[in-house]
Amino acid sequence: MAKRHAEQYERRGETFSRILRRRLARRSFLKGAAATIPLLIVKPGRMVSSGQGVQSLAFQPVRLSAADAVLVPPGYSSQILIRWGDPLFPDAPEFNLLNQTASSQARQFGYNCDYVGYFPLPDHDSNNPTHGLLVVNHEFTSPELMFVRYSASAPTREQVDVELAAHGLSVVEVERTQAGEWKYHRDSFFNRRITGETEMLLTGPAAGHDLLKVSYDRTGTRVRGMLNNCAGGKTPWGTVLTCEENFNQYFANLNALPDSDRRKAMHARYGVPSGASERRWEQHHDRFDVGKEPNEPFRFGWVIEVDPYNPHFIPRKRTALGRFKHEAATVVVAPDGRVVVYSGDDERFEYIYKFVSRRPMNLTRRDANFGLLDEGTLYVAKFNDDGTGQWLPLQAGQGPLATWSQAEVLIYTRAAADVLGATKMDRPEDIEMNPITGKVYCVMTNNTRRGSSGQPGVNQANPRANNRHGHIIELTEDGGDPTSTTFRWEIFLLCGDPMVPGDQTFFAGFDPTLVSPISCPDNITFDGNGHLWIATDGMPGTFQKNDGLFAVPVEGEERGFVRQFLSGPVGAEICGPEFTPDYRTLFVAIQHPGEGSSLTAPTSTWPDGVIPPRPSVIAITTHNGLGAIGS
Ligand code: FEO
Ligand code: CA
Ligand code: CA
Ligand code: CA
Repeated sequence: MAKRHAEQYERRGETFSRILRRRLARRSFLKGAAATIPLLIVKPGRMVSSGQGVQSLAFQPVRLSAADAVLVPPGYSSQILIRWGDPLFPDAPEFNLLNQTASSQARQFGYNCDYVGYFPLPDHDSNNPTHGLLVVNHEFTSPELMFVRYSASAPTREQVDVELAAHGLSVVEVERTQAGEWKYHRDSFFNRRITGETEMLLTGPAAGHDLLKVSYDRTGTRVRGMLNNCAGGKTPWGTVLTCEENFNQYFANLNALPDSDRRKAMHARYGVPSGASERRWEQHHDRFDVGKEPNEPFRFGWVIEVDPYNPHFIPRKRTALGRFKHEAATVVVAPDGRVVVYSGDDERFEYIYKFVSRRPMNLTRRDANFGLLDEGTLYVAKFNDDGTGQWLPLQAGQGPLATWSQAEVLIYTRAAADVLGATKMDRPEDIEMNPITGKVYCVMTNNTRRGSSGQPGVNQANPRANNRHGHIIELTEDGGDPTSTTFRWEIFLLCGDPMVPGDQTFFAGFDPTLVSPISCPDNITFDGNGHLWIATDGMPGTFQKNDGLFAVPVEGEERGFVRQFLSGPVGAEICGPEFTPDYRTLFVAIQHPGEGSSLTAPTSTWPDGVIPPRPSVIAITTHNGLGAIGS
């Protein structure tokens, strides 16, 4: 904390350090503060929680499965909390496969749930483990499983509008009943749907730039909707960050732009299709046709901040965090009070980024932090083969970016990172800091093009050619300070089946004959003991088995001992995962059950045993509801 800011807090009658100590006692703040203050003592070889002794993982692992069901270990129950199409308001229609309309979908739970964030009620500091708000992203739609009659080459206007309404985010009030079951409240004041049409603002250094202006918004600050919201993160002031990932797929006809137009190369760098889009929304909405609205794609690919406690809050696309295929955004608080946001760009050979705010977090006034993510420095990671690394500032006017404006750096973030020589990674997904050790875990889901002809070869941070199974890197910021511009790193997991020699697996040195096979890691979280929980996306392709959820200690004798906790339904990736503050409930999003099939012959009928399969959020508890999950 800079002296000036410390004085500012002291003038208000309470020292910053006292406020920090008080807030540290609360779990909701742990993620931010753990890097700065050793809440737990890490002894050589063992992780010990303060005063409580070792808490090992103690569940009987489930096995890889191809069953169309959610499987959890003995002693655990899973229940369906909310499904695609469930009504979120008293006047919202019940789900009806044969009669979905855009207006009904906009008042129902959206499709393909991904990120799950639990926000306790009555406020974000309350730690209430049995009553809160769930914020759930709806990444994309699977129209062949949503509509009885669907033509991929010529969707109807109504179908496209249902899909737009099924994208975005839901806020829904949830509560655990006396009987131990979770229910959602249909009549909650807080319930909200944000869709691909909800008006939102662009804020920060790029807002208002010419590249962000379109025919329906000459200010370059007002956007219709958010698309492909994959994972996200929570801020210490109780807002959610939701991340636009593969936004390029919604746009069409890049070839309509002349080669002399610089925007063409930039759109191509992000994968905007040269001709028709796969979804064909451009047939009904001009804004998805780059030939007609060349700047519209620049208004997507951002991190969006939403206040779930205020259903009237206008979502903000925070341009200071850069524009790329954001998987997630994890916020931590540095020793000096500034906030740091880690985010991966999920595409083959893309980069890992972090943002450091200019100002420190205000601990006494929540709303003073609502602009904190609009000013700061964006960095991109360079991994050296000797186990060191640098965070390179994406700062216009400096070095190779001397002729760039900062707005250009933020809109063309990938191109700016290219010229700085950042390290091309194997599809960066979730990145999270362990709240107990302060180490940062960076998930690389896979990259089968690594080392193939004409593509980048292996390096120490991406050490396998044809990386089918993915890996996880453990990154330690120098000085334990997340604002540091240098770090050390090592490989934590090389995923795969340890019984298959060609997979070249590594489980932090743990005996590979004892672990569960794991492939294509995607989203992660930590339990109360600092164990890492890993959800997967892609095991049907690599193992011909369903995706799952895994837990692994990261310290001590069991470091690297991966055990499978859950197996999902056919065709589904496993998302979320999110614990309640008491770690007694684990929310998991089951995304795209039956993927790759259609309603005429669906490979999944989860969760209800009938057509259609429905993406849903589930709640997992122990049978008696008492123990922490996994322990
Ligand atoms: Fe939407 Fe990177 O997974
Ligand atoms: Ca993901
Ligand atoms: Ca996560
Ligand atoms: Ca993924």
